[in-house]
Parts: sequence; structure tokens; C-alpha cells
Amino acid sequence: MPLVSPKEMLKKAYDGGYAIGAFNVNNLETIQGIVEAAKEEKAPLILQVSKGARAYANSIYLKKLVEAAVEESNLPIALHLDHGDSYELCKSCIDDGFTSVMIDASHHSFEENIRITSEVVKYAHDRGVMVEAELGRLAGVEDEVNVSDADAVYTDPNQVEEFVKRTGVDSLAIAIGTSHGAFKFKGEAKLRFDILEEIQKRVPGFPIVLHGASSVLPEYAAMINQYGGSMAGAKGIPEDMLRKAGSMAVCKINIDSDLRMAFTGALRKHLYDNPAHFDPRQYLTPARALIKECVKHKLVNVLGCNNKI
Ligand code: G3H
Ligand code: 13P
Ligand code: ZN
Repeated sequence: MPLVSPKEMLKKAYDGGYAIGAFNVNNLETIQGIVEAAKEEKAPLILQVSKGARAYANSIYLKKLVEAAVEESNLPIALHLDHGDSYELCKSCIDDGFTSVMIDASHHSFEENIRITSEVVKYAHDRGVMVEAELGRLAGVEDEVNVSDADAVYTDPNQVEEFVKRTGVDSLAIAIGTSHGAFKFKGEAKLRFDILEEIQKRVPGFPIVLHGASSVLPEYAAMINQYGGSMAGAKGIPEDMLRKAGSMAVCKINIDSDLRMAFTGALRKHLYDNPAHFDPRQYLTPARALIKECVKHKLVNVLGCNNKI
């Protein structure tokens, strides 16, 4: 089976009241952990590559690793560009064979966001590639995503219908209170389900995407803290809120930080328990295993996309 488009996956998820997991990948072990989990849970997958991941691993390596995952697992897997920040980057990924791209022009004005997104849509659709865009701005910090709390803005439901119509985009990432990274809130997490509900009314049947959706699982934070790291103050989105969003119009949920924490926690523990180990296979094996466990948990208990193929 070749790489697939996420279009059909998202439609089924919308109709079925669940969400597809979109997991960020940077290396072999992460891809293997995610794919092993999806195989056991019979779940469709979106593997996504950021600009930072491309710079780290080189697009060709990542593309070939994902193709190997498809060949080995026979799962429906879509390869998606996460947070494409320019037409050129989206074009390059489309030319490389990605089946989906995100153009994140949300930091521009509404009109400019529409202009840039429409250009990407034209190039992508002519080649059968799906496009995700973003309206509203999430707070948070990652390699290539850096928005302060003050610059974050909730998505305005009044703009959604016009944006979707004028751009022809296939899915839309919205800002309703989630945030990138492992330090999402000082106080309590609060998602604006009222905004999500209103958006669903304005564009019925249209797939919505939630970024910044790691729960920052306390067991991984504790593991990192226990074995020499520091995750003091780390806080994520409660899982029941994500389940609720997935039962509404949210069909794609992006998860990166939880995987990073699982990987790092397992690796730290292994090296702490085995100070004489220096073969990377020794510490990457438990790191990969904890990624798998984490993804299985997400697929079954958070996304509800197990047994959907
Ligand atoms: O939302 C951003 C993703 O977590 C990717 O982060 O830019 O550090 O690869 P990155
Ligand atoms: P987290 O940092 O919450 O995992 O979000 C990841 C994400 O949105 C990738 O685009
Ligand atoms: Zn994101």
C-alpha cells in the first residue's frame, strides 16, 4: 500500500465521532514505536514532519523511513508537513511525495493568510495533496513555533466560513486554548468548547484540527525528574477534554511533546540504571518501547481511533 491521503481518514473520523492521531517524527525509533502501536491497535495514522525535523534528519531520510513503515506495516499512513511556514516549503514537501501539508500563515493578517493559503491549495490540489491551514494563534514554544501568551488569539468563528470558502482548504487548525510544548498553563487548562461548537455550526462536516494537544503525562514528567532532568511546572491538556473535542468536529489531534517526554524519560532511566551502557541500541530500545506504550494509550483512550481499519 502506498502513502495515503488523510482526507478519507478525517471524513470517517468526523462521522464516527473520533479523531486521528497526528504524531511528530524525527527519527527511526520514534517512527517504529508509533507504527508498532498503530499496528496492534489497528489504527490509521498521520505521521508529521516539521521544518525543524526536516532540518534535523533531512527530508529524504524521513520520507524513506515513513515509506519503510508503510511497507512493513501495511497500515494506512499519511505523511504530513507540520507548520509549513512558506509556499516554498509546502511545494518542496509536495514535490517530495508528502500526501498532506499544513500552511501556517496564521501570524499574517486575515487577507494575507487567505492569499498564501490559496496559493498552496492550488499547487497541492493539482497534485492530489491535502492542505491544512490555521486561523487563530496558539501560544507556546517549539523549534519553529514561538508565540507568546500575549500574541495568542482564539479563532474567531465569524471568519471561519469565509476562510474555508475562499481558500478551498481541506481542514483547519483552530485556537481554542491548547498550546504547544510541555509548559502549557500556569493555572487550569480551559478549552473554549463554545467556540468549537460555533465553528462546527458555521462549517458543518468540515474537519477541524487541534494542535498543542499533549497531555504532558505526569508519569513521564516524574520519570524525567527522578532521573536527573527537570520538568517542574510542566502541564498539559486533560485527556477528557481531548476526548470531548474528538467527539465533536475535531478529527486530527497533534501530539509531539508527550512522545518527547516518553522517549527522554525512558532513556534517562535506562542510563541511570545502567551507567556502563554505551551502545545506543541499549538505551534506544526502552525509549522506543515507551513511545509505543504512550501511543497505544492515546489511540485507545484519547483518540478512539483503534479498530478503525
Ligand atoms: O508544533 C510543533 C511541533 O511540536 C514540532 O516542533 O518545530 O520543534 O519540530 P519542532
Ligand atoms: P504538543 O506540543 O502539545 O505535543 O503539540 C504538538 C503539535 O501541535 C504539533 O504540531
Ligand atoms: Zn502544532
